Amino acid sequence: MRLPTKKRPVSAGIVRQLKNFEPYFATVVRPAVPGISEPALKAIEAGGKRLRPALVMIAAGTGDDVDEEQLLRACAAVELVHLASLVHDDVLDASNTRRGVSTINAEYGRRRAVIIGDYLFGLAFDLLAGGNDNGLIEPLARSAVELSSGELRQRRTLRDLDQSVEDYLEKIYAKTAALFVAACAMGARLAGLGSEHEQIFKDYAGSLGMAFQIYDDILDFTGDEDALGKPVGSDIREGTVTLPMIYALSLDKSRSVGAALAAPTTDAVKAAVSSVLEGGAIDEAKKVARRYVVSAQAAAGLLPQSQSRKDMISLGNFVIDRYH
Ligand code: FPP
Ligand code: MG
Repeated sequence: MRLPTKKRPVSAGIVRQLKNFEPYFATVVRPAVPGISEPALKAIEAGGKRLRPALVMIAAGTGDDVDEEQLLRACAAVELVHLASLVHDDVLDASNTRRGVSTINAEYGRRRAVIIGDYLFGLAFDLLAGGNDNGLIEPLARSAVELSSGELRQRRTLRDLDQSVEDYLEKIYAKTAALFVAACAMGARLAGLGSEHEQIFKDYAGSLGMAFQIYDDILDFTGDEDALGKPVGSDIREGTVTLPMIYALSLDKSRSVGAALAAPTTDAVKAAVSSVLEGGAIDEAKKVARRYVVSAQAAAGLLPQSQSRKDMISLGNFVIDRYH
């Protein structure tokens, strides 16, 4: 299981399902395609928290008679779209490490990495395409469109100091929360839930995804490099304007954040990270993240008492209490 076991955020049933998911997930790249299968498998085995498959499992867990094979395929499909987006993200950012290991672009070159990302993305839909898909393709396809538009918006506003909190929130909804929503919608559909219950899961996932991304952006300042698997201050270096930076820009008398975004030298980034950490921006960003967790947990509270509801609430706590 990839979710940290120290502060186990989900029940033993989900932990068991996540354990069974791993060997299945490793088989989805077969049959072997020369030049592609090996790096694709590396991307799959590089790990991650498997949060999105966990969300599919939790939502599906509210159904009585969920097809095991279909559940595994749905979990793999959503995680494949996530991994494809990370492989492409690392190409776009020219990142050499993710989760402490070499990225696909660093190991195989950026041209091959683009194709590996395409392959993982195609595989996701290939897994769902056979036979009766139970309406699973639609939410995943929609989230992929949102993901790409969120990423594009982020890139078009790199180093742009004139961004509001609302601009940032819209971007992270598309870039991150939309795939959380798809995961829960897929699980709800597997469980055979009606549209009213599916909407509760989607509301939950949207808020959880927002809190998750805001915390990711906070950890870029507060995390330690070994645990993050990438250097602190990466967002400033890449020019991505995140919520802590937006608050720091309004609080920062020395203008160090703006200076580091414009010219990210080692010293400028160091000064900007200190200013974000010391000027109250992190506390402001944490408040926003906590509000999203409260909304997510309120949505979960609308569901009947169940193990899934407990898992949803505890995942909310995990998002703001996690370490990488
Ligand atoms: C990682 O977040 C990146 C994303 C959440 C989205 C990336 C999306 C694309 C590259 C569009 C392509 C989409 C598809 C469907 C293949 P981050 O950059 O905030 O975090 P990081 O520090 O982990 O890179
Ligand atoms: Mg990135």
